[in-house]
Amino acid sequence: MDNNRMGFKRYTQLPMPYKFDALEPHISKEIMEPHYSMNHKAYVDNANKFIERYEKVVAGEVKDYDIQGILRAITFNVNGHKLHARFWNNMAGEGKGGGKPGGKVGDLITSHYGSFDRFKQIFTEAANSMLGAGWTALCYDKETGNPQIMTIENHFMNKVAGAPVLALIDEWEHAFNMQYKTKRADYVAAWWNVVNWDDAEKVLEMVQG
Ligand SMILES: [Fe+2]
Repeated sequence: MDNNRMGFKRYTQLPMPYKFDALEPHISKEIMEPHYSMNHKAYVDNANKFIERYEKVVAGEVKDYDIQGILRAITFNVNGHKLHARFWNNMAGEGKGGGKPGGKVGDLITSHYGSFDRFKQIFTEAANSMLGAGWTALCYDKETGNPQIMTIENHFMNKVAGAPVLALIDEWEHAFNMQYKTKRADYVAAWWNVVNWDDAEKVLEMVQG
C-alpha cells in the first residue's frame, strides 16, 4: 500500500466542563459520573476500535469484512461521542443553566414560535413522545434560518443534513433511569433548569459567522 497515506485520526474524550455534581438536584452525580466515564467513554473507545478496523480495510490488511457493518458502527459510535460532547457543554449548573435564552437564540425562538413558552411546550411534546432511545434537539438550518426541533433516533442523525444542534437532551435510559426511574417526562422537565443557552448562542454565532 501507499506508505505516504495519512492514517485516520482517533477520537478523544475531553474532560467534563464541570464537576459531576454541578447539575444537582436536576441531574444527579450518580447519573453524570457513569454517563461520562462509562457510556460516553464506550462510544469513544468503540469509535476508535472501528476506525482502526476501517484503517486496516483501507490498508488492504483485512480481506474478509462487512463494509456496511463497519460504516454503521463508525456512525453510531462517532455520533454517540459527538452528541455526548455537545450535551455536556450544552448544560450548566450553579445558576448558569435554565431560564430563557436572550441574544440571537432568544430572538430566533420568539420570532418563529411566538414565545419561548410556546417553543418549550412544542419541544417538551416532542421529547415526551419520542419512541425508544434517542435525543430531541433544536437545530438551526442556515438555508432557511429556521430553528427546527428534530428527533435523533438512537444516535443516527435523523435530521436535516448540515443543520447544527443548538440545544439537545439525551433521552436514553442511562441519562435518567437511576434518578427518575420510568418518569422520563420529569427528567425532561428538570432538563429545562440546566440547559445552557449561552452555549447555544455560541454555536449560532459560529454558524451565522
Ligand atoms: Fe447518553
